Amino acid sequence: MGIVVLTMKASVIEMFLVLLVTGIHSNKDMNKKIKRPKFTVPQINCDVKAGKIINPEFVVKCPAGCQDPKYHVYGTDIYASYSSVCGAAIHSGVLDNSGGKILVRKVAGQSGYKGSYSNGVQSLSLPRWRESFVVSGEATKAYQKPPVPGTTAQPVTPMQVTGATATEATATSLPKPSPSTGSTTSSLGPQPVGHRSWELDLWSTSSYASGHHSPRANPGEMDLWQPGSVLLDAGFVPKEELSTQSLEPVSQGDPNCKVDLSFLIDGSSSIGKRRFRIQKQFLADVAQALDIGPGGPLMGVVQYGDNPAAQFNLRTHVNSRDLKAAIEKITQRGGLSNAGRAISYVTKNFFSKANGNRGAAPNVAVVIVDGWPTDKVEEASRFARESGINIFFITVEGATENEKQYVTEPNFSNKAVCRTNGFYSLNVQSWFSLHKTVQPLLKRICDTDRLACSKTCWNSADIGFVIDGSSSVGTGNFRTVLQFVANISKEFEISETDTRIGAVQYTYEQRLEFGFEDHSTKADILNAIKRVGYWSGGTSTGAAINYALEQLFKKSKPNKRKLMILITDGRSYDDVRIPSMVAHHKGVITYAIGVAWAAQDELEVIATHPANHHSFFVDEFDNLHKFVPKVIQNICTEFNSQPRN
Ligand SMILES: *[C@@H]1O[C@H](CO)[C@@H](O)[C@H](O)[C@H]1NC(C)=O
Ligand SMILES: *[C@@H]1O[C@H](CO)[C@@H](O)[C@H](O)[C@H]1NC(C)=O
Repeated sequence: MGIVVLTMKASVIEMFLVLLVTGIHSNKDMNKKIKRPKFTVPQINCDVKAGKIINPEFVVKCPAGCQDPKYHVYGTDIYASYSSVCGAAIHSGVLDNSGGKILVRKVAGQSGYKGSYSNGVQSLSLPRWRESFVVSGEATKAYQKPPVPGTTAQPVTPMQVTGATATEATATSLPKPSPSTGSTTSSLGPQPVGHRSWELDLWSTSSYASGHHSPRANPGEMDLWQPGSVLLDAGFVPKEELSTQSLEPVSQGDPNCKVDLSFLIDGSSSIGKRRFRIQKQFLADVAQALDIGPGGPLMGVVQYGDNPAAQFNLRTHVNSRDLKAAIEKITQRGGLSNAGRAISYVTKNFFSKANGNRGAAPNVAVVIVDGWPTDKVEEASRFARESGINIFFITVEGATENEKQYVTEPNFSNKAVCRTNGFYSLNVQSWFSLHKTVQPLLKRICDTDRLACSKTCWNSADIGFVIDGSSSVGTGNFRTVLQFVANISKEFEISETDTRIGAVQYTYEQRLEFGFEDHSTKADILNAIKRVGYWSGGTSTGAAINYALEQLFKKSKPNKRKLMILITDGRSYDDVRIPSMVAHHKGVITYAIGVAWAAQDELEVIATHPANHHSFFVDEFDNLHKFVPKVIQNICTEFNSQPRN
């Protein structure tokens, strides 16, 4: 679609050129006839760094008051893209402290930037930076006649565009897919395609006018929104709310989607007011689509810029209507997009009991990122997952191939989520299509069976095998038992921080074959299992359970599920009842697997309740392998049916 529109633009330009060359109209007449698109120059905050804006060339409006040492500027004349755009504009003399429009053009990174004092701004030195920019004041002109990307900063008039550059420009600056629009076709002359802010100004009107986002938005009235909503907030709306409140029954929430949800929204300066507004609309759509309530989903919002701040927690607004009203009132923080810091904050502070975390509902954090984060997310996300938070990433208008070099942490979204199969990460091409993500996202969030991201059945247990090495087993069968132990172990994700495996062999006596800390890879575990030597002797199962509790499970980590898998082929010589009770009491989930002469009643005593779920009887050793999937299945079913956080 975008390509079609662009191709059309290219041919319109070409036609226009042909007309010029053939001289059907004089240039003067032509200029009169061209209806130029009306642009609104986006305003940025003083702290926006050039590096956060992707365009090679752009026009922005700086506010007053950017002549402040806190807006760091690096270099002189040519500035590192790490500098404040508006600060650099003042330093270079293009603007004064009262603000105004400027044209910014990106240039190559330099091997050094020299600081200097100029026009009331002290710029700093910097050894080397990947990208630079220069500022010029031809903003007004350039803004009326937008430059063609790839050319110099000089404003380009339709007259100067050659057929070749026009085509080139349209080919090399293919933008993100454009929303359907009729308005762009009406404007002749080169379009500032590929320019984010212009794109917004040109196209947002039609997108909004389509009715999805705001009924109040009319073309040309964009700037009226914010004041409008403020007026509403301060005015008659609360009364209206009051009158409807008593009529509506309060919802308990959708019981099929019982999750504790945190949305981390991007409030960085570079996102801009309009896209921030779209983001809020997205949250409101989510709040509307979810039936929020104490028996269903609860939702809080954290906004991040340089630092994160909770807008409201899980217990602040417990129905969809209140939540939507609260979302409407969120104001943008500004700053960078430090998503990593925000994730750490959510792990440490947001999901606390005091903030309304229910414990029996999965914790879900949805991180929305405009472009890419300005800090690293991998480690923060890992901590979050290890403390039981399922992280979803929604990246909107992510880095293009060319921009990937600027991304702090390549592949950040894959590093943040626990599965790279796409379930936990959504990539949205344009802010204007974000609303299409509401349903797919909610489908995943509410699919609580699949929310096993942080702790899964496979990565969260300490599994202790207790293996009967009595004489009745025999050497051959003992090898089969070890195979069984190996086959079960293989299914788990094994590492120091994931599942760990230990083993005890017993007869009358007991010995520790290896503990949880002895091996940390799957290969090492499988080797260690192979090396277990058959002992041969009596069968004191009760004593073996006690021994396993002391020697294995005492060293289990508090955040691990403790699983004991006991395999025996006969009745115990000692009493299993008390040791089993102690095991259950200590939270060790015990599976009893009896082969051949094992006593079923004893298995049921050993097994955790319900016994039919935790005990298995196998008539002969050769059939043991058939129970591997069954044992695994029961372990995972139980895991998935329990609260995880
Ligand atoms: C990104 O991460 C995924 C999973 O971690 C990996 O399979 C892929 O190769 C990585 N891509 C790059 C470009 O590093
Ligand atoms: C273990 O797995 C191997 C390979 O899948 C299989 O051949 C063998 O029968 C299994 N043995 C047991 C006891 O599970």
